[in-house]
Amino acid sequence: MHESIKIVGGEVYYMGEFLEATIVIENGKIAYIGKESKSPNAETKIDATNKLVIPGAIDVHVHFRDPGFTWKEDFYTGSSAAAAGGVTTVLDMPNTNPPTNTINAIIDKIEIGEKKSIIDFSLHSGLPRVPHRLCDLPVIGVPSVKIYSYKHYPEEVKDYLAYASKRQLKLVFTVHAENRGIIEETKKKLEGAQRDLLYHGEIRSPRAELVEVKNFLSMAEEYAQPIHFAHISTKQAFKEIVNAKERGLKVTFEVTPHHILLEQNNLRDPYYKVNPPLRSREHREYLMSNLDKVDVFASDHAPHTLEEKRFTGEDIEKIAPGFPGVETLVPLILDLASKKVLSYEEAVSKLTEKPATIFGLNGKGFLAEGYDADIAIIDHKKKWTIRGDKLHSKVNHTPFEGRIVKGFVETTIVRGAIVYKDGEIIGKKGWGKFIRAWRASW
Ligand code: NCD
Ligand code: ZN
Ligand code: ZN
Repeated sequence: MHESIKIVGGEVYYMGEFLEATIVIENGKIAYIGKESKSPNAETKIDATNKLVIPGAIDVHVHFRDPGFTWKEDFYTGSSAAAAGGVTTVLDMPNTNPPTNTINAIIDKIEIGEKKSIIDFSLHSGLPRVPHRLCDLPVIGVPSVKIYSYKHYPEEVKDYLAYASKRQLKLVFTVHAENRGIIEETKKKLEGAQRDLLYHGEIRSPRAELVEVKNFLSMAEEYAQPIHFAHISTKQAFKEIVNAKERGLKVTFEVTPHHILLEQNNLRDPYYKVNPPLRSREHREYLMSNLDKVDVFASDHAPHTLEEKRFTGEDIEKIAPGFPGVETLVPLILDLASKKVLSYEEAVSKLTEKPATIFGLNGKGFLAEGYDADIAIIDHKKKWTIRGDKLHSKVNHTPFEGRIVKGFVETTIVRGAIVYKDGEIIGKKGWGKFIRAWRASW
């Protein structure tokens, strides 16, 4: 697998800007970035003229469903979709079966990933049964513990933050912020009034997100423990987090393409049920106008079969929430850059450097000598149409069906091995490795 590769003629993302440069890969690492005239020789040459050469994207929020729900996705199909989308590292979510909230479950998932994945990966742990088990996570190289706040009341998770803080654990708390109390209260109020999916948007209201974000911001302040907010979808929550960052709190947040691009009116179709729900135009446009303030773009790749996403007319609660996204993340964000909604430099940074830094994925996310040769070559001028049946997820559908985007992933390289090229998956099962996260400080 470890041939040397030279990538010539491309616009290379280096230290925050695009420069014409040659990259030479040796032994899976970047051995050289600089002028072509001074570059060492290599066995294989890739011509990237008129293309962007960027670090492979890091999607910090995917559900690869393995183990336990492998009829929806598994580590091979999920990682193939990622590779085809220019994503070279993912952080997998813990709501598998068994859930990834014990050392044994984590070790088992790492083994599954290292057998099946064609790209590299890290994990979010679920909340362990008792706070002191958080100690295991930095030791094993897991950078984050995921909290589904619609399952836990804030008082229940406080002990975990207090413990992590007291022990100075190098651990990020990643929060799906929707307040359980408000969800349950609204559900009671609206009982028997299920109309269409707008009901789902009402139960999981913007206020449910805002209140929970505020709860966790207070905890970030009290315990000085870093908190990363998953999929922020509303204007007010977005503003609160940005203000908290300005006050110096160690908080970061991600935004998904679907909350930037899709609106609540799609919600009448059960397919578009997702948590947090798609919002009204006001929220969507606010996100769109403030992308420069976002830390990270992530997909919340949450595949279900079409069967599971169907509404039987009986109970809206039973429709599975979420849809695939890992393969369309990079093209959709680069398409926004092509429309000048944000700069290409910002787009790339929020897909690569920022996630690597937040989650302590050393050797990832940057094009620099000595770093892992995780690279995506992008034809940023090529337009193409997103079609679910052409994507690589086990479930071949997408909420972006028929959308035309400018930005096409041509080649994806993981630690020096070409895993995807010109529409074809080349990566071998088991090439992917678990990346041990490690941070010296916050
Ligand atoms: C997620 C899933 O399907 O695992 N669904 C979603 O709508 N985002 C679970 C979740 O985060 O609630
Ligand atoms: Zn979530
Ligand atoms: Zn999710």
